[in-house]
Amino acid sequence: VKRVFAPKDMVGRKVLISAGPTREYLDPVRFISNPSSGKMGFAVAEEALSRGAEVVIVSGPVSISAPVGATVVPVESAMQMRDAMEAHFEWSDVVVMTAAVADYRAAEQKNEKQAKVSEHFTIELVPNPDILSGLGSKKGNRVLVGFAMETHAGVERAAGKARRKNADFICLNYPTREGTAFGGDDNQVTFVFPDGTFQDLPRMSKREVAEHLLDEALKRMQWAIQ
Ligand code: CTP
Ligand code: CA
Repeated sequence: VKRVFAPKDMVGRKVLISAGPTREYLDPVRFISNPSSGKMGFAVAEEALSRGAEVVIVSGPVSISAPVGATVVPVESAMQMRDAMEAHFEWSDVVVMTAAVADYRAAEQKNEKQAKVSEHFTIELVPNPDILSGLGSKKGNRVLVGFAMETHAGVERAAGKARRKNADFICLNYPTREGTAFGGDDNQVTFVFPDGTFQDLPRMSKREVAEHLLDEALKRMQWAIQ
């Protein structure tokens, strides 16, 4: 049964969402990135707003427009995303990391465009900070939700991430299913908990995934507050 009216069960709740890809510049005109569309994060934002929450979206570069009523903090790099998420973390009750954060950035970002000089070109990369882990280490009563895209051993890997990053659960999805994940309007996810238990959801719109995600987050929040 499709829901007709959103329950106003998030009035006064503050939801911080990261969305989209990050860009790791090599020089002023080139960067390393990924195909994340931002749709999943924006769907969580829309759902939270319709349920009465206040919403801040820290968004990497995306081509879709943000839902009316959300505050958008635009960023490019993982380092900028980390700083913006840290800056709004204190304010938040629920944090949802849908962003596809680049794991690495160039060791050195050149100030000038690099000319083509030789047959072989090597870029030295260094790891980016893990934003979710950083927030997880000072979680308090907040509910923290991560995303993970896996090609194999999904539940096991996602549960490990939930534990390591101190997330309440990880929303696991797969890059291979038609119409889902990168760029699609639908998603098929499994909620994976730190203890390795999981809940499979059928394929549905990203907005409906958002509805289930916030239901699950809210359950944990009420439990945390009492
Ligand atoms: N994440 C993050 N900061 C990073 C990398 C990932 O906050 N530098 C967050 C993502 O936004 C996501 C969760 O961590 O919510 C899991 O991302 P994923 O890339 O699956 O985790 P990694 O620890 O980077 O593992 P992997 O080696 O499989 O990429
Ligand atoms: Ca990663």
